[in-house]
Amino acid sequence: MAKTIHVGTLISGGGTNLQAIIDACTAGSIDARILFTGSDTPKVKGLERAERSGIDTFVVDYAKIIRSCKQGIEDSDLPPDFDLAKILEKQQLVTPDTSTDTSGSASGGSLSGASMDLTFFLKSRAIAEKILLDQILAYDIDLLVLAGFMRVLTPYFIDRINTISGQYKVMNIHPALLPSFPGTDGYGDTFRYGCKVGGCTVHFVDYGEDTGPIIGQRSFDIEENDTLEDVKRKGLEREWELYPACIQKFAESIG
Ligand code: GRF
Repeated sequence: MAKTIHVGTLISGGGTNLQAIIDACTAGSIDARILFTGSDTPKVKGLERAERSGIDTFVVDYAKIIRSCKQGIEDSDLPPDFDLAKILEKQQLVTPDTSTDTSGSASGGSLSGASMDLTFFLKSRAIAEKILLDQILAYDIDLLVLAGFMRVLTPYFIDRINTISGQYKVMNIHPALLPSFPGTDGYGDTFRYGCKVGGCTVHFVDYGEDTGPIIGQRSFDIEENDTLEDVKRKGLEREWELYPACIQKFAESIG
């Protein structure tokens, strides 16, 4: 038995991974307790799942914040400790000559595609992330678990969670066998490529997109007649086993 770790969770949608983690905590099969569930989107099913289990919830409405940023960002809108030059130096989400589409996900958020100004991206996300941090830092957590949180986190946020150098505290689940198929549609990309094996990966979040150290992976065979729906179903079933196992691995590593 490890010490019971305190976990915060962030979601964007249905929350089937969140449910698997809640169930593992309730069953006592992992040494973890979830203190809160935050969402970037109001009224998603994952929030109901958390509430049903008596877990604190909150929403930071990213879409609304980003809409408002598009009207213009004043320096006074930015967090007082926001340092654009430092964040530009640290971020590994885009290379200077790569265009960005910032609609993406957590470590699941695709930065490829339409062009968008990197400075706008980093500033608007820091405004949202400051509100997120105000909620999260009210709790004393050992680990932040991204369970289908479809927003990219910038170095502004990550540095305020990973406060001890060299120690990662943010975990993400990705629907592909990284380093193959980073981005928002891992199962779709795996299927369309014609892979015969698919899988999922739990990894720590660093300054890149789906690039952090890998904690665990599960794979499955893709049969000749499998549809994309089959691939997603097989993948999710593996995710529900893998995520609790990786949280337990983390608990044992610090306990
Ligand atoms: C999962 O496939 C996960 O890998 C990806 O988003 C999906 C979330 O599903 N990051 P759910 O909300 O846990 O059901």
